[in-house]
Amino acid sequence: PLVDAFDLVIFGGTGDLALRKLLPALFHRFLDGQIPAGSRVVGIAREGLDDDGYRANIRKALLEAGGAKDKVDAFLTQVAYRSLDARKDEGWDAFAALIGEQPDHVRVFYLSTSPELFVDICNRLGEYDLNRGKSRVVLEKPIGRDLASANQINDAVGRIFDESQTYRIDHYLGKETVQNLLALRFGNALFEPLWNAGHIDHVQITVAETLGVGTRGAYYDRAGALRDMVQNHILQLLCMVAMEPPSSLSPDAVRDEKLKVLRSLRPIDESNAAQYTVRGQYRAGAAEGQSVPGYLEELGPGSKSHTETFVALKTEIENWRWAGVPFYLRTGKRLPERVSEIVVVFKSVPHSIFDASAGPLTQNRLVLRLQPDEGVKLWLTIKHPGPGGLRLRHVPLDMSFAEAFGVSQPDAYERLLLDVVRGNPTLFMRRDEVEAAWRWAGPILDAWGASGEAPRPYTAGTWGPSAAVALIERDGRTWNEDS
Ligand code: BG6
Repeated sequence: PLVDAFDLVIFGGTGDLALRKLLPALFHRFLDGQIPAGSRVVGIAREGLDDDGYRANIRKALLEAGGAKDKVDAFLTQVAYRSLDARKDEGWDAFAALIGEQPDHVRVFYLSTSPELFVDICNRLGEYDLNRGKSRVVLEKPIGRDLASANQINDAVGRIFDESQTYRIDHYLGKETVQNLLALRFGNALFEPLWNAGHIDHVQITVAETLGVGTRGAYYDRAGALRDMVQNHILQLLCMVAMEPPSSLSPDAVRDEKLKVLRSLRPIDESNAAQYTVRGQYRAGAAEGQSVPGYLEELGPGSKSHTETFVALKTEIENWRWAGVPFYLRTGKRLPERVSEIVVVFKSVPHSIFDASAGPLTQNRLVLRLQPDEGVKLWLTIKHPGPGGLRLRHVPLDMSFAEAFGVSQPDAYERLLLDVVRGNPTLFMRRDEVEAAWRWAGPILDAWGASGEAPRPYTAGTWGPSAAVALIERDGRTWNEDS
């Protein structure tokens, strides 16, 4: 194993994230022999379950996901459950005693609960001195719902855990292709000289999902696409694309550079939100061949929510490298396909030597596909083979991770959970990053609120409201369609 035995405590242990992502991620690390003997995973929630009841839930989830019975059972011997309420005293003594049995272990407290509980849980951990020694706390997004509430949480958590013990997770940073951006940008001599406003026409980031909001309505309706995806995941992707070369991969060297990008984002507020942002909300339509209800119907009869399930926006990074280069960002639920990609579109050649009969010259595009089928494509102009005159074609140099390496990608959480255990915060957000991201996102939310307008409707299974297409097309550009 790469790490010493550890204790990992999941608050919100019966929740969706724990069962769908965290425990499967730990199970996969277990299969690879990276959960050393003696390590313990403890699920915490209010439900009155015992160890066996909890294990049965996880067993079911892991078997359904294709886990082999004997391996699942072996993994489950390291899993326990405690019923606790952060706002009640009961059970905390016993819990502290359980954790205290292994004083030398690294302890990770993963707060996979609503952010309203972060402070109460941290205060309890502090009361029992569980914040000392090799203890770390992981905060799931969203951290607050605006700058003020994020600061409140960060201040309160900061009274118990030092910043160096605090891991603010953004699982997009654990995705293989995102980390590959570092290798691609800074491990090749090819790109960096061109990586600036002199050579790049614009950048697009799309995170499209086919899923609707489903049973997460209660959370989602208070968040919306900007808080749920843009403030964190998409801005983090943008930082990885746009940051200056860090001097090393040390956590602060990387995070310092990301922070500078966040602080250079062109503000969007009441004066320009209508010009630079498009909000949408899905209506009934189709997803993967099935007819599906609209967002308001999912919320329940009579619902009048103005929460956006789609957002497209145009921003710029106001610094020397990027001045004048638009960054178009979009994300939404119930779009036609599940695809996440970053597209870097280079400028046209300065002069064409080809006849009109050769066909149009197109711009080079570098497409970094995060999911599904992770890969990198570089679109080039070449001559169509054959004697029939010089005709130009646009073709990709195409690298698929699955084909090139023959392995399926580990889930983002696998990497990140072990990074916490190892004590490597490079791929986690520092407090000032979260604040800078809210500082930029807050005025957009305020502008939308002040406008009093409803988001534009779009039919489930389409690429959002037509205004999102107009947002980019009025600049003479189009959203990437070559997959
Ligand atoms: C989560 C959001 O952070 O990311 C969800 O809360 C979203 O709404 C999810 O569906 C997308 O993650 P992934 O890894 O499936 O792209």
